[in-house]
Amino acid sequence: MSDGGGFTSMAGAKAEGDAPEIGVGMLGYAFMGKAHSNGLKKLPYMMYPPAAIPKLVAVAGRNEEAVKEAAKRYGYSGYYTDWRQMLENDEIQVFDNGGPNNIHAEPCIVAAEAGKHVFCEKPLGRTAEESKAMLDAVQKAGVKHMVAHNYRFVPAIVQAKKLIESGALGRIFHFRAVYLQEWIIDPNFPKIWRLDKSLAGSGALGDLGSHIVDLARFLVGEPSKIMGMTKTFIEERPLEDGSGTGKIDVDDAFTALMEFENGAMGTLEASRFAQGRKNHEVLEINGENGSIKFNLERMNELEVFWAGEEPNTTQGFHNVMVSEPHHPYWENWWPQGHIIGWEHTFVHEFDHFFRCIVNDEEVAPWGADFVDGYKTAVVCDAISESAESGKIVDIKYDL
Ligand SMILES: NC(=O)c1ccc[n+]([C@@H]2O[C@H](COP(=O)([O-])OP(=O)(O)OC[C@H]3O[C@@H](n4cnc5c(N)ncnc54)[C@H](O)[C@@H]3O)[C@@H](O)[C@H]2O)c1
Repeated sequence: MSDGGGFTSMAGAKAEGDAPEIGVGMLGYAFMGKAHSNGLKKLPYMMYPPAAIPKLVAVAGRNEEAVKEAAKRYGYSGYYTDWRQMLENDEIQVFDNGGPNNIHAEPCIVAAEAGKHVFCEKPLGRTAEESKAMLDAVQKAGVKHMVAHNYRFVPAIVQAKKLIESGALGRIFHFRAVYLQEWIIDPNFPKIWRLDKSLAGSGALGDLGSHIVDLARFLVGEPSKIMGMTKTFIEERPLEDGSGTGKIDVDDAFTALMEFENGAMGTLEASRFAQGRKNHEVLEINGENGSIKFNLERMNELEVFWAGEEPNTTQGFHNVMVSEPHHPYWENWWPQGHIIGWEHTFVHEFDHFFRCIVNDEEVAPWGADFVDGYKTAVVCDAISESAESGKIVDIKYDL
């Protein structure tokens, strides 16, 4: 039943006093730089009243002309061609790392040592070991830390977690997740950083797999053991500078079987070789009282099935539009059915991070903190280890 459709929820909220400004320094200005800047700029007027107003102090990159243009485009007051210099700027309280995986660890550690709160893109580090060093640094510095697992901030996913936590599904039997894309099937597609182990750490596993491992942990709980298989379909690709070809040392796809500490079973699959699949992140959870299905490409919807529903003549999976005022985050957006998109997950995750900073609250369990980033890296490393050894690997965290 509708409760007004949200038309009354969009006005009237008043900010008590002025929200503090928090200076942000961003590393990287391409895909994630754009998504993060967009999220930061929307936050103060959409998540109203905001806990804080992000002030875009500076952006860092290597190419002066390009980083200067990015600062102009996204509204950063300044720019740096050296991230170390940026981290010396006292106006910056939050370091936002939107760089490739090889420049996650060092800048995040330096930022933490400089007393900045750290927000880092996923996967946290290239390995569990690197991720642990990052976790140790932020904990030692006592700063807030968050990994950009933005799918935790899709309203339908938050709703799914609330349903599971309320016990509505009963005991969970299965977690099933696929994350499928198609963009590197062409053998002439060059060896970009995402296809280079020294820069990315792994392929589909760290890139897409880290998201579904995080969601498995977020929604169902800790995995206890895992078995994985990885595959590289195209083993040599042209180099980006046209100087020849290079060996591919990351996985193009992986599959994994897992067991959770609570006895549930899980399967995970990710690939960049799934023809026709654009950004196909699909989850299904089966419990004793019902099931939930989520598809990122239909992210405003949640499919649910309830056992024993009457009348049984119409029993089946229902498609729920997660866009009512009583749904997570919806009071910040539009009337019912006026859907939101992928980019809005970044508004939600930054809002969460700034609220945690201002109110001195924990980023977990709703947001992924560096503990979560480290644990996800342990699970991803275990999948690689199992793929090499052919054996089941126990998940053990060194905390
Ligand atoms: N949360 C998500 O949904 C999501 C989606 C895509 C990417 N990511 C993650 O975001 C990160 C960045 O990915 P992307 O897609 O934006 O990559 P990208 O290649 O589009 O952008 C990388 C940026 O980093 C800059 N850069 C590269 N090396 C640098 C260096 N040594 N010093 C300074 N700047 C440097 C590049 O110039 C560019 O601006 C990755 O860790 C990736 O896994 C997350």
